[in-house]
Amino acid sequence: MNFFKPKILRYESLPSTNTEAARLAALGAEEGLAVVADEQTAGRGRLQRTWASPKGAGLYVSILLRPKMAQERWPLITFVASLAVSDALLEACELATDIKWPNDVLASERKICGILAEVIDTPEGRAIVVGIGINVTNQAFPEELASKAISVAEATGQQRDRETLLSSLLRGLGRWYVLLLEENGGEKIIAEWTARSSYAEGKVVKVVNLDETLTGVTSGLEADGALRLETSTGTVSIRAGDVTSLRSHVAVDGG
Ligand code: BTN
Repeated sequence: MNFFKPKILRYESLPSTNTEAARLAALGAEEGLAVVADEQTAGRGRLQRTWASPKGAGLYVSILLRPKMAQERWPLITFVASLAVSDALLEACELATDIKWPNDVLASERKICGILAEVIDTPEGRAIVVGIGINVTNQAFPEELASKAISVAEATGQQRDRETLLSSLLRGLGRWYVLLLEENGGEKIIAEWTARSSYAEGKVVKVVNLDETLTGVTSGLEADGALRLETSTGTVSIRAGDVTSLRSHVAVDGG
């Protein structure tokens, strides 16, 4: 039984769909609320960054969830979101993608989608707003990010319809979310994420978080979604930070 029933609210312009979804959640909105805007004037990204959101250039959507699940497992909800984005890009745009820990979706090693999940307290209990931004055209991001960002239009060579992408995304989100809530659902989500991410194992990466920079080789995920990293001083579990692949920076010695 798929008990996840999305209810879409559409806006021409909002400061941030995450902020609006959180406001409606505080007023008692039900799980499945999906707030979509054509543009955001104060779009927010991870690690206090802004998320450029020009009109019609991206899919900007925030979904409200009220998971009946131990809160230690809530970080896995962002993995659910990245799996849903990866499915939607394949289904609606015939685009195969990679996923960079924790939840950046990449095409040709450049970022095509970012996910910002925010836990909030509401009168009905703790909830989570999952904000998803997909670059649909290259106008979605500033020129200076062109080497790191990519759009669906550039990656597929075609303009794609945001509505088709949104329907596919919400269907996928429902599927993976229902699976997460099942017994052993977390393990299944982690297994699927690991199968789809080139960053899950054996990738040489740099991790920058608030107080340190680490380099090492990735070696799978913990049960709560933390990234295991083999460093020169031992194995550490990363729960926050920015991961960059060092492959292209490592000197290659005669192949
Ligand atoms: C990231 O930094 O990678 C996360 C970006 C998340 C952007 C989306 S767009 C819809 C939703 N509303 C926001 O203000 N942010 C998220």
